[in-house]
Amino acid sequence: MTTKSKAVILISGGGSNLQAFIDQVDAGQLDVDIALVISNVSTAYGLKRAANAGIEHHCIDHRNYASRLDFDKALINHIDLVEPNIVILAGFMRILTPEFVHHYANRLINIHPSLLPKFTGVNTHQRALDAEEKWHGASIHFVIPELDAGPVILQGQIEITADDTKESLQSRIHKIEHELYPLAVNWFTQGRLTIENGKVLLDGEISSEQLQTFDH
Ligand code: GRF
Repeated sequence: MTTKSKAVILISGGGSNLQAFIDQVDAGQLDVDIALVISNVSTAYGLKRAANAGIEHHCIDHRNYASRLDFDKALINHIDLVEPNIVILAGFMRILTPEFVHHYANRLINIHPSLLPKFTGVNTHQRALDAEEKWHGASIHFVIPELDAGPVILQGQIEITADDTKESLQSRIHKIEHELYPLAVNWFTQGRLTIENGKVLLDGEISSEQLQTFDH
């Protein structure tokens, strides 16, 4: 008998991506046990979403730790209690130390609201508008110590319209994220992802499914 993969999800805010995971698990479309949700912000609405879904959840406030490393060590101690197969960053607004990243090497993934390698860091929607980009989107990637630079698993893109604002882009891109992030986790838990020469392969190949275009 195979046991279900266990996931720990780290958040800092609204947790709409967390909700997408919860909904897909409930709908039987995502075969993973969300064992624990951790937020570094006590007021994060995502903690309520976890509570409503009956998922174990904690706040570990980074301000209670003397250094970034001390905070990350506390995170590791909590996370490892549930022995996760995958650690999912879903709007977790802290830069992680190399120690943390190495501890979860090849099982730590993030979603970033841009078509990486374009627009790493913050304020991506406004920056895409300012740069008069034709396409914008979201990227799911394995995490390496360098910020937003790890091997990309999956990207979703939309065409920017003349009417788009940073708010409209945020909402259009959230929709993509909610569809693609659970898909990427499914691929991971099904053992379909490998990394070769810094590129992520799906079933051993570079697949056209890894860049998806949306029209909503
Ligand atoms: C998402 O846009 C994600 O790309 C970024 O943070 C946002 C989190 O949104 N990393 P939510 O908290 O899941 O609603």
